[in-house]
Amino acid sequence: MAEDLKRAAAEKAVEQYVKSDTVVGLGTGSTASHAVRRIGEAIAAGELHGIRGVPTSARTAALAREVGIPILALSEARPVLTIDGADEVDPNLSLIKGLGGALLREKIVAHASSNGLVVVADGSKVVDSLGESPLPVEIEPFGHEVTLEALAALGCEPTLRLEGSGSQTGDPERPYVTDGGHYTADCRFPGGIPDPGALEMEIKRIPGALETGLFVGLVRSAVVARPGGTEIMESS
Ligand code: A5P
Repeated sequence: MAEDLKRAAAEKAVEQYVKSDTVVGLGTGSTASHAVRRIGEAIAAGELHGIRGVPTSARTAALAREVGIPILALSEARPVLTIDGADEVDPNLSLIKGLGGALLREKIVAHASSNGLVVVADGSKVVDSLGESPLPVEIEPFGHEVTLEALAALGCEPTLRLEGSGSQTGDPERPYVTDGGHYTADCRFPGGIPDPGALEMEIKRIPGALETGLFVGLVRSAVVARPGGTEIMESS
């Protein structure tokens, strides 16, 4: 059921926003992968042509190749928009992302997209206020112990993500390593995150905190699928 809703949101976003002869940022995660597959199907069916994709992870690059989407690097072209999933979406279209372990590259590609980010999600991802789920923060492995302490001083309970936890696979004794060679701290804020923009700036003052999973002001629209239908929320 949730998978059907993820697919419905992703397919609606492709239909609505992806135009021929454009460069599209390709997100990471189970919902974004439905969009990648749909773009591949549309290319194969001749419904779209001249599409090139900028992937946000090695996983997505492999999927894009498999379904026949030509790949470009950011050094070659900038996307017109990026389609990606989210872990939480608030009423201002601020997001928590990164449960899938690719947040830094996702944020770089979204930020480089001239028309911003189109979020695809099932209705369970929509929240009144961010912070029900832990906030992922991509951190530098060097000195990560002091970075975890500095994050905790901001009022959260940070946990170093291990392989084999959550959606990651591998050895549960070893830290999860991102495509960029970094670690991830999953930070639970007991009181939620009432001011995502302010928290994002506070975290980024910590030298070892490379990027946060807070996406503020990057979203152009959110395509949200619920059992009753698909809604498009536009940023104001
Ligand atoms: C990947 O790092 C994440 O930001 C994902 O986009 C996010 O976790 C949503 O993933 P699902 O679509 O698999 O729920």
